[in-house]
Amino acid sequence: PAKVRLRHLQEAKEAGRTFSMLTSYDALSAQVFEEAGIDVLLVGDSAGTTVLGYDSTVHTTHQDMLTFTGAVSRAVRRPLVVADLAFGTYQVDAAEAVRHGVELLRAGAEAVKLEGGAARADTVRALVDAGIPVMGHLGFTPQSVNALSGHRVQGRDHAAADSLAEDARALQDAGAFAIVLELVPSEVAGRITEFLEIPTIGIGAGPDCDGQVLVWQDMAGLSGFEGRFVRRFADLRGELLRAASDYRTAVESREYPTAEHSFE
Ligand code: KIV
Ligand code: NA
Repeated sequence: PAKVRLRHLQEAKEAGRTFSMLTSYDALSAQVFEEAGIDVLLVGDSAGTTVLGYDSTVHTTHQDMLTFTGAVSRAVRRPLVVADLAFGTYQVDAAEAVRHGVELLRAGAEAVKLEGGAARADTVRALVDAGIPVMGHLGFTPQSVNALSGHRVQGRDHAAADSLAEDARALQDAGAFAIVLELVPSEVAGRITEFLEIPTIGIGAGPDCDGQVLVWQDMAGLSGFEGRFVRRFADLRGELLRAASDYRTAVESREYPTAEHSFE
């Protein structure tokens, strides 16, 4: 199958074909997701919580993102690899944003994602002008978890929905190629998806977005996260627990290893 590029996501929207994105932070999961035909791999700053054990993505650093981006990009050929700009690497000024964006592309990303709307439009434009494709991220923006008073659905009232729509338009006008909508009422996400020319990618944003994304450990039931918007497509936690317990029992009972696992 052909390498996924920006234009394929645009073509999918125009043809009414929904596409899939999953997070990935390591070579092995990336290879599995490529084989499964996932179109976009997001090296999300959620790595800080899912892999590194922090309680929010505020703690994920640029160096973390470079490391995980390298691991994923070295492992796959077909999916589009998008990497998050870490908290603090694009808010100070556009020049810093471009410098960090360049480093993510050098690490193997093909596009970057940043959080925020109209306030980030000039930064998005600077990145795009530098040849760095930008995915936007609106609604609940995890790097602002403290400012937003926790994980909450955004854009519920009319004024908030209108400002979300304005932010989406500002990102599109600034040159963003797609926008993630996180924790947004379905009806609001559907309306934004309809008026935007570029694709939307939903997480907790209902069925009407052009694409969908989940954190892979939530999707596969490894994290144990039970948000309303998550469907667990496997019970990896249960499976891994069973394997580790069986391994322990086999070791303690000397049932493993046997001669067939040993060298003469
Ligand atoms: O970091 C991440 O996993 C994300 C997705 C939830 C969109 O930004
Ligand atoms: Na993120």
